[in-house]
Amino acid sequence: MPLARIKATGSYVPRKRLTNLDLEKIVDTSDEWITARTGIKERRIAAPAEACSDLALKAARRALKAGGVKALDLDLIMVATVTPDTFVPSAACVLQSKLGASKAAAFDVNAACSGFIYALSVADSFIKSGRCGNVLVVGAEVLSRVTNWQDRSTCVLFGDGAGAALVGQAPDETGGIISVNIYADGNMGDLLMIPAGGSRMPASQDTLKNNLHYLQMSGNETFKIAVKTLESLVRNTLEASGLTPSDISLFVPHQANLRIIRATAERLGIPMDRVAVNIDRLGNTSAASIPMALDEAVRSGRVKSGDYVLLEAFGGGLTWASALLRW
Ligand code: ACO
Repeated sequence: MPLARIKATGSYVPRKRLTNLDLEKIVDTSDEWITARTGIKERRIAAPAEACSDLALKAARRALKAGGVKALDLDLIMVATVTPDTFVPSAACVLQSKLGASKAAAFDVNAACSGFIYALSVADSFIKSGRCGNVLVVGAEVLSRVTNWQDRSTCVLFGDGAGAALVGQAPDETGGIISVNIYADGNMGDLLMIPAGGSRMPASQDTLKNNLHYLQMSGNETFKIAVKTLESLVRNTLEASGLTPSDISLFVPHQANLRIIRATAERLGIPMDRVAVNIDRLGNTSAASIPMALDEAVRSGRVKSGDYVLLEAFGGGLTWASALLRW
């Protein structure tokens, strides 16, 4: 059976840069602390008029152009996000309208930082089953809108951006999405959450006063679980395909913390020159980080035909996911 494959990629980052020095003026922090603990030097912030679908649109148009596919030829659009324009309609439906992709079904995927790989797994299944020809998978976030700018433990971490992948059938069985794996443990959902605004705790004066519409994270605990989980996730993904870390030409991890990325690469024996990193320039952009890093690697010629590329993510839910690609 022919595999599904990523045919083209695109990405978009908002123009406004927020540096660590800028943050020093807002909260009690320092460039030294942020750089040493996270690897982040700056992040991008969406303009006031830019919402999730606006970022997604620019990334999507670039992916469609690179793939030579018209919006009207899309069968399915998924936007992986925790910051959609609105709960209803979904960001994917807004994007479908903006693209004029009137034949495409559209829905959002909420799996926090693992969202892009979760959506990629849906695309993979729909394409392999023959139900879809062209699927657009977008990771897009405007995390600056759910960031508490008075909380130094989170506001230094997040940024805005979007990445997109056009997924279709591979021409033969030699390349494509070899495996895609998705996992969750809802028992640890409290570690990373936006408490209010849903049906559990609807928006009220109290929720606003108590900053409950912002992202809260138990960073240190999440950090330890992430490092432990990611090493076995990658090992299992490779073993299932009879590969070892030395076969991987490009490792594209979710960009939550440079220390997590380095620790995972080191435990696996993958040298850092084979690891895609954008966290220094973009911060943690949740579901957008992997497709943005992948697009950068593709456009700079870092990924070549026949290369094995490994994607992995860990995030809120808790969720984690991996995808092994042969380019
Ligand atoms: N500036 C200066 N000091 C700070 C800052 C800051 N911005 N933030 C926290 N501190 C202080 C704390 O108050 C604490 O001080 P104390 O020792 O006096 O109490 C000290 O620094 C250490 O705090 P920790 O939280 O233990 O710092 P840690 O080294 O764990 O780094 C971080 C925090 C960067 C959040 C890290 O834990 C992390 O990256 N966690 C994992 C994140 C992750 O993987 N999330 C999942 C994906 S994200 C998603 O799904 C949206």
